[in-house]
Amino acid sequence: MIINSARFVVSNPTVGKCPADTRHEYAFIGRSNVGKSSLINMLAGNRSLAKTSSTPGKTMLINHFLVNDSWYIVDLPGYGFAQRGKSQREQLEKMIRGYILNRAQMTNLFVLIDSRHKPMKIDLEFFNWLGENGVPFAIVFTKLDKLGTQAGKRNVEEYCRILLETWEELPPVFLTSSETGRGRDEILDYIEQLNSL
Ligand code: GTP
Ligand code: MG
Repeated sequence: MIINSARFVVSNPTVGKCPADTRHEYAFIGRSNVGKSSLINMLAGNRSLAKTSSTPGKTMLINHFLVNDSWYIVDLPGYGFAQRGKSQREQLEKMIRGYILNRAQMTNLFVLIDSRHKPMKIDLEFFNWLGENGVPFAIVFTKLDKLGTQAGKRNVEEYCRILLETWEELPPVFLTSSETGRGRDEILDYIEQLNSL
């Protein structure tokens, strides 16, 4: 898919205030600092569309971006940021869960995992929660440029092998780097496919 336009539309603290139209939308979630906003900018071909930061906890609201005037990308806050106070963390989690469970036009959730890390409890619990609630999702491994080709492949394979110890099958898996643009065509093609269903 070719991206002709991508623009910021609105930021909201609750799902109830998100855009009222029913265009397809695709949300990006994962632990704080995993690279959600950077990936969105890479997909959109605009480095300053979503705000990124080397300090975790940058994105605090539900952010809608309209692409090609026909579908939305949604940037969500990260989960599990330890430095945040308990009440703020709970409030953000409520916002995220409220969005995921109630946003009927959310066609697919992309869950981002840092390709350098082993499976973490917080991500595994989140995957299970998605499964229990029947939420369609794909896994996106991020920051592949930080690893050598072989090490990256090995880490991702090992991650997937561990998932398959308890899962019958894997959801779609994407290997990406916001630095090099790796995985961009694959994710955009996948979205195009879902848009046409
Ligand atoms: P929060 O909004 O705080 O939850 O973070 P986020 O998941 O949106 O992460 P963000 O995109 O702000 O990126 C976090 C840090 O990782 C920034 O310093 C980015 O430059 C860096 N980063 C993100 N993606 C990549 C990547 O593919 N490669 C490399 N080398 N760095 C990346
Ligand atoms: Mg962000």
